[in-house]
Amino acid sequence: MSPDRKYLLGGLLLLFGIPLLVIFFQMHNRPDTGPGSKLYRQHCSACHGQDGKGLRALYPPLSDSPYLIEKQALLVCLIRVGIRGSLVTADGSYNQRMPAFPDLTPGDLSQLVLYLQTRWGKTNQISSVKNVEQQLLLCP
Ligand code: HEC
Repeated sequence: MSPDRKYLLGGLLLLFGIPLLVIFFQMHNRPDTGPGSKLYRQHCSACHGQDGKGLRALYPPLSDSPYLIEKQALLVCLIRVGIRGSLVTADGSYNQRMPAFPDLTPGDLSQLVLYLQTRWGKTNQISSVKNVEQQLLLCP
């Protein structure tokens, strides 16, 4: 192969390869379809943001939330019963009320927790519907 053709081939590879890679990674990084994502957009994103970054001093971010790491066993109850009072996180302190979500079924909660964990958590532990039902029994 002549050097000219090699350059042409390399150029073509860059031209088409890079955008394809970018598209692939964007699709991979955005689990924006599926039931969990829909539930999040319906019920949570108004306060915590589509990107989970929260809203300044009002609503805490979800990435690195202790409820997705060491306190994950309490996450289901937090969503079901809501939370109020002061809350201190790595990003600051919050003192607003988060509403309860009594209408979310164990199936919904399981999908939602899976979504939160995959997107912002550090574990990929799956909260099965059965797990969720057990955790709901322990809610205050
Ligand atoms: C009306 C606004 C609002 C909505 C809607 C809302 N939240 Fe919240 N959320 C809050 C507020 C405010 C706090 C902090 C409460 C406090 O200050 O005690 C919070 C706290 C949290 C925390 C704990 C954060 C931490 O780092 O400790 C998690 C997790 C959470 N919310 C998840 C959710 C999920 C999941 C949904 C959807 C089902 C949701 N929230 C819907 C306002 C909201």
